[in-house]
Amino acid sequence: MSRGAWWRCVLCLLLPVWPVFAAAATPPPPAFEPCAVCHSTDGSNGVGPSLKGILGRRAGSFPGFRYSRGMRAASFSWDASLLDRYLTDPQGLVPGNVMPFSGIADPAARADLISWLATLN
Ligand code: HEC
Repeated sequence: MSRGAWWRCVLCLLLPVWPVFAAAATPPPPAFEPCAVCHSTDGSNGVGPSLKGILGRRAGSFPGFRYSRGMRAASFSWDASLLDRYLTDPQGLVPGNVMPFSGIADPAARADLISWLATLN
């Protein structure tokens, strides 16, 4: 086999599996399990808005999602400390928001979850 043909052959074997490597993101921590029921991380909206790029994103602004009045009125962009407050007590930080989730009590689980959310940017 010529050298050129050999390389083409290697490339055609690798190409089909390349997207699998490219898409291999950090796996979510256990605390994300309940969130995944409502939130995608790929940009599609479900019961809740996609969490793709959530850090630094303005609250209540993901395109195509119908937010509550409470969430639309929140005038901040999500950072780690606001996410920590929201995930501790959603109603406490954003009164009138309609996320049906009561919060995560364990600070370490919240911290893990928030550092993983930052990888979605
Ligand atoms: C049962 C469904 C449900 C679950 C479970 C849930 N959420 Fe939500 N979430 C929502 C909905 C609905 C909204 C929009 C709330 C509104 O408009 O008031 C929302 C909003 C949010 C927002 C604000 C998004 C933005 O664009 O401003 C964040 C951040 C968020 N959720 C994170 C989480 C995380 C992290 C978890 C898991 C710990 C979680 N949610 C669990 C339904 C859910």
